Amino acid sequence: MQTKLTKAERKLNRFHNHEIPENEVLVARELTKTYFQGDYHIKAVDNVFLRVRRGEFVSIVGTSGSGKSTLLHMLAGLDTPTSGQVFLDGYDIHSMDDDQFSDFRAKKIGFIFQSFHLLPVLTAKENILMPQKISGDTRYPSYFDTLTRMLKIDDRLHHLPSELSGGQRQRVAAARALINKPDILFADEPTGNLDRDSAGELIDLLLATRAELGQTLVMVTHDPAVAARADRIYHMENGVLREQKPE
Ligand SMILES: Nc1ncnc2c1ncn2[C@@H]1O[C@H](COP(=O)(O)OP(=O)(O)O)[C@@H](O)[C@H]1O
Ligand SMILES: [Mg+2]
Repeated sequence: MQTKLTKAERKLNRFHNHEIPENEVLVARELTKTYFQGDYHIKAVDNVFLRVRRGEFVSIVGTSGSGKSTLLHMLAGLDTPTSGQVFLDGYDIHSMDDDQFSDFRAKKIGFIFQSFHLLPVLTAKENILMPQKISGDTRYPSYFDTLTRMLKIDDRLHHLPSELSGGQRQRVAAARALINKPDILFADEPTGNLDRDSAGELIDLLLATRAELGQTLVMVTHDPAVAARADRIYHMENGVLREQKPE
């Protein structure tokens, strides 16, 4: 039986590229970001091609200023490319209008920032449930309990971010990023603002949660030991992305 598409689904379908294989959850082509400043310009991201398969853990390493955040933001639709394309789940995300993309993002993309980005006036629980509020998503009612238990924040849910440690705040941010079971989770130096012990704990919990869920993960990190745990490692230098070949 054929199911009838809703109007929103039909609109979204226009951005679907059927030539992209189903298991390639993230595809970037000729992705470039140029910043113009007066008479000169900086190619922060320079002609990047990338393919990430469903369930993969990919890490990106590189010196400060090499373009890692700019790349990650464009892959997640938080920033607009100067040229090139990003397909998420086969959908060309930079061609959608704001309303379409806002809904798409809330359902399909999770993002963990170095500086947490929690809303200070909301409790941990309210922060975690924010993406569901935005998308009206009620597909996974018991997921909240599972996730907060896995990330060991189930006893901190009624606290404000200011009442939590850095490690706990980042675990709340991780739960928020995962609450809608996104197709892909991005993390931009998630341990950058944590001390060594909380950093280690966060990575252990994040990777254990990822293993449990089979979640696709693209993580920028400056820690070679963390990068080495990924299925594939990329190096970024002057905006150019290169895959490290396995030895
Ligand atoms: N909004 C901006 N305007 C101008 N230049 C920028 C802007 N954002 C980043 N850049 C420049 O782009 C380059 C890459 O920055 P970024 O992506 O933050 O690198 P990384 O995350 O690897 O440290 C740097 O040279 C940075 O100064
Ligand atoms: Mg950065």
